[in-house]
Parts: sequence; C-alpha cells; structure tokens
Amino acid sequence: MKLPVRYLLPGMVLASPIISNNKQLLLGKGVILTAKIISSLKKFGILVADVTILSKDFEAPSNEIDYGVRLNAVSLVEELVMGGGTVNYKKILLTVDSIIGEILEGKEVTSNLTNLCSVDMYTFAHCVDVCILSIAAGVLLNYDRKKLLTLGTGSLLHDIGKIKVPLMILNKPEKLTPEEFEEMKRHSDYGYEMSKAIYDLTVLSKEIILNHHEKYDGSGYPRGLKGEKISDMAAICSVADVYNAITTDRIYRKALPPHEAYEMIMAAGDLMFKNEIALTLLKLIKPYPVGSAVTLSNGLKGIVIDLKEELIFRPVIKIIETKEIVDLKNQHNLVITGLLNNEEVQKLALN
Ligand SMILES: [Fe+2]
Repeated sequence: MKLPVRYLLPGMVLASPIISNNKQLLLGKGVILTAKIISSLKKFGILVADVTILSKDFEAPSNEIDYGVRLNAVSLVEELVMGGGTVNYKKILLTVDSIIGEILEGKEVTSNLTNLCSVDMYTFAHCVDVCILSIAAGVLLNYDRKKLLTLGTGSLLHDIGKIKVPLMILNKPEKLTPEEFEEMKRHSDYGYEMSKAIYDLTVLSKEIILNHHEKYDGSGYPRGLKGEKISDMAAICSVADVYNAITTDRIYRKALPPHEAYEMIMAAGDLMFKNEIALTLLKLIKPYPVGSAVTLSNGLKGIVIDLKEELIFRPVIKIIETKEIVDLKNQHNLVITGLLNNEEVQKLALN
C-alpha cells in the first residue's frame, strides 16, 4: 500500500522501487526500511512509498509494466520538454510502442509511477502514467496498433506545455488566483504550439494535447468544446489525466484512495466525460487493489490478497486479527466499508 513518507516506520518493506530525481533506482523492491533510509527519502523529496507492512504474505503480485520502460518514457518526455519540442519522432514512437507491447502482454496498468517519484519529476511521470492508462483504455475499445500509437503519443505529450507555466503557479500550495488559473489553463495551447515542432506527430495526437481539458458538458478549456466535438482520444486522455491526478499526493492536497476516485469518475459520466469513455476507464481501475488495508462491515480489518476482474468490489481478504482468509464473493452478508487511513495503517504496523 502507498503511504506518505512521514508515515513510514523502520521495519516496513518496500513493495515497489523508489526512483530518484535523476531517474535512477534509489531503493529496490524488498528493501527493509530503517530510520536512516526514511530520513534519506525525505531529503530526496520523495513524497510517497509503496510498502508492505505486516508480512510477506501481503505482498502484491508483481505484474507491473517494466520500470525500465516507464523510466525511459519519463526521460524522453523530460528531454522533449527541456529541448522545447525537439526530439526525434521515431524515438517517441518506439517508446510508446514498447508501452503498448507491455500492455498487450497483460501487465498491470494502474500502478502509479507519479506517486513514487519526487516532486520535480511530477509532470513527466504523470505524462507516462496517463499514457499507460490511455493505451489500456484504447485496447479495451479494440483500437488497432496504429490508433494505439496515435493515442499513446498524444497522451504521453499531453502536458508538455506546463514547462511554460511558472513553477510558483504549478506548485502553489494555496488556491490559485483567477489570473494564475488563467495562466495555468494556457498549458494546453502552449503544448499544442510546442507539438508543432514535432514534425511527424499526427493531427489527432496534437489534438489530444490541445483538448485534454475539454469537458463533455462544455465546461472545459481552452475552447469550451462540447460533446462529440471532443475526439474520443482526447476524452480518454482527459479521464486518465483526472484519475492519475486525483490519486496522486500533491503539495496542495492529499491523494484520493482508488475507491473514492472510482466513485468520482462514475459520477462524472456525461457531465465531465463521455459516459462510454468513463465506463471504459473504470474497467481498468481497482477500487481496492491487492495490498490495500480495508475495514469490513463486521468491524474486522483485513488486507486484500486477491482480486477477480469481474468482482472488483468483492476481493479475497486476509483478516488481520485472525489470519482467516475470506472470499467476499461467497460472503454476501459482508461488505467492505472503507480503506484504512494512514494513521490506522501506522498503528497496525506498530502492533
Ligand atoms: Fe493538463
């Protein structure tokens, strides 16, 4: 489960690697945290770590998209942004194609790289997470490889315009003033202008960059496009963008747990997002992912140890107090009432 670094305790075990500012693996999966390591993570500006707290029994199965592939994509976005849009188009295509390959192999697509990276890398890691989710949605919609490349490329580059927005606006902990918000909103246009320098980039990919904040009901920006005026590809990127943003800790607010993000996107169908697209993305989201700590309607606490795709609200749970395995698929009188909050998880780790 992902915990803010301030909640880490010596003895917790890393369930995913931690990546440094310069995209090197800082700590590998399986490392047992010590007080010294935890204080180093704070110094490195790492906000969140994915840890296993109780025993190896609770370790999530590892079927994630290769970290090398993801970090390579992060480097590419950074290189492109820092170079003002000048990067070899073939390099972008190859990177997106390697992500498509991993997704078609059935790798896990909702693990959040953005949460594992430092603040400085937020935009680049966010672009990669959104690209992965968008491609996975395209696969569910039966897009062919060419369409997946167009969708993946546009999604990978959707936020490149943020490089032109002042950092004090991007990272401001307080609410933006109306003027600052107007400047923030310009990143779609900035990105679209930058994308023109990538000569071979398709019109549809450029449109994703321009329209990824347009909303189905016309309340989005920069042009307030409505309904079918927004391409499905831009709409996919839009839902993936919102999902990744709300499930990531930021300086100005805490991440929403996956089950709340799920409800929020469900409620936004045909308002913020075209319903069909929102429902497609929801098929990718696991409200209670393996490794998460939950409370049950009988008052007991447990860790999710297995999940069936068709029954995402009724996973298999190992009860912490009794070590009993409960399959909610067969326990109709028992429901999950919520995820444990960070303080509760910390208490569990201390027991
Ligand atoms: Fe954006």
